[in-house]
Amino acid sequence: MENGIKKTPSSDKINCGMKKTPSSLFSITELDDFYFQHLSRSPRLNIERKVSLDDCSISGNLRHIDSHESMSPMGCYGHRAGFDTPNSTSDNVYEPHMMVVAAWEALRKSIVYFRGQPVGTVAACDFTSEEALNYDQVFVRDFVPSALAFLMNGEYDIVKNFLLKTLQLQSWEKKIDRFKLGEGVMPASFKVLHDSNKKIDTIMADFGESAIGRVAPVDSGFWWIILLRAYTKSTGDSTLSETPDCQRGIQLVLSLCLAEGFDTFPTLLCTDGCCMIDRRMGIYGYPIEIQALFFMALRCALQLLKPEGESKELLERIMTRLHALSYHMRSYFWLDFQQLNGIYRYKTEEYSHTAVNKFNVIPDSIPDWLFDFMPIRGGYFIGNVSPARMDFRWFALGNCIAILASLATPEQSIAIMDLIEERWEELVGEMPVKACFPAIDGHEWKSVTGCDPKNTRWSYHNGGSWPVLLWLLTAACIKTGRPHIAKRAIDLAERRLLKDGWPEYYDGKLGRYIGKQSRKYQTWSIAGYLVAKMMLEDPSNLGMISLEEDRAIKPVVKRSSSWS
Ligand code: GLC
Repeated sequence: MENGIKKTPSSDKINCGMKKTPSSLFSITELDDFYFQHLSRSPRLNIERKVSLDDCSISGNLRHIDSHESMSPMGCYGHRAGFDTPNSTSDNVYEPHMMVVAAWEALRKSIVYFRGQPVGTVAACDFTSEEALNYDQVFVRDFVPSALAFLMNGEYDIVKNFLLKTLQLQSWEKKIDRFKLGEGVMPASFKVLHDSNKKIDTIMADFGESAIGRVAPVDSGFWWIILLRAYTKSTGDSTLSETPDCQRGIQLVLSLCLAEGFDTFPTLLCTDGCCMIDRRMGIYGYPIEIQALFFMALRCALQLLKPEGESKELLERIMTRLHALSYHMRSYFWLDFQQLNGIYRYKTEEYSHTAVNKFNVIPDSIPDWLFDFMPIRGGYFIGNVSPARMDFRWFALGNCIAILASLATPEQSIAIMDLIEERWEELVGEMPVKACFPAIDGHEWKSVTGCDPKNTRWSYHNGGSWPVLLWLLTAACIKTGRPHIAKRAIDLAERRLLKDGWPEYYDGKLGRYIGKQSRKYQTWSIAGYLVAKMMLEDPSNLGMISLEEDRAIKPVVKRSSSWS
């Protein structure tokens, strides 16, 4: 028991009932228990934790779960009688504390064990879906909100085991067909296979070679570093991050990104679908999600790397890159009313370093929707900037991470929150939060997505609403001193999430409809809700995922523009 919550014993094996076993994943039988034997010591605690009322009130309700069949007292596998009735008068069919109980229960059901040790959570426990596809795997990005929930609840082992397991996977040789991937690439996901006859657990990992589009997850390594820092901050235990293995893991991830090449920009050049948006959605180039995560991972690495040996030089390169990256992002990705007016009046075909319109963006390429969308008060980091191309779409994850990492200046952070408030209906609507805005449709949808039937307008990545983003919005709200906005978003989520069975995403302009192909009992929707609740209740939790402004990173010099 911890904080009054009963933990699922480590002997539990959760069989989520997924049928399909991917055949093309990398596979090894893991023979060494090195990591768990040598590195799983309990962390030293030095933080004071505020136990939430919700947690206290539910302590008696959680129970040991043995199998899928026996774990359905509510929510996950059928509705709880008495709450979702036509006579229900309240807006919220479930009381918030009941939702917290149900969320913890569902989160625990998603835990994956490797040799008796919890190592992660599956992406979804949706038994109604015919095919599991890869939702029965532990995704690195999906595990982040789970990990934060566990850390906030004082359950550190699962996070530590996850960090070590994925670190071990990083050292695998990774190949797609005959082409070898960089050493530092972290997996998108992994799966534990339990062979009950041989009593052996096997891990299979996917580095992109099984993924749709065969894209490597650029975000995984960044999330790994960010999570390692969250773990270190939350436990106060730096022994894990200081191990030679973890130090090397960080070095390998960053060496991939800091290698010199043909780049003329400090941003990271990526292919489409290399992050949360893992299908073709026109985010190739320099997507904001990756740039913000890159910035945050670099800053976390500054805190985690020991200034000795190979890291000494790496630390210098990190600092140099941070300066250039923050300048570039704050100058060229930032858009507000004034910047937009400047771009609208841009001259084109300018040559030499005196050019104002450095990327030769043609004003006619500014989409019509933007002129109405842009409020006088507010601003945001746009989706992408590359030669003659500005993707003006709003992406929630990148903007929230920009606030949390202090990539956004304090003024920019305030402006992002202003924009969210001013454009609440568009960006939040009835279910927080839109992954991107606006949707693309018609000919544009055809050419940008390649006619992707999953990403039709206002669905999935294309203007769909993702409950997981609630934790990021909440964190950004707290950091900018606007918890009331988070409260408003959480209230909206509480009207639907549990009743609808924790969908992966919602569709429609307002996010009113459960997504066309949305999974139910999507773990990061569940964990995202819990993290949002716990952060709002105890804002000190924000510290594990937020970085204060670094005064060593010089403020941006305002881009001169022709608008005035
Ligand atoms: C979808 C999402 C991706 C997520 C995965 C597992 O592919 O686009 O971001 O990691 O599902 O939930």
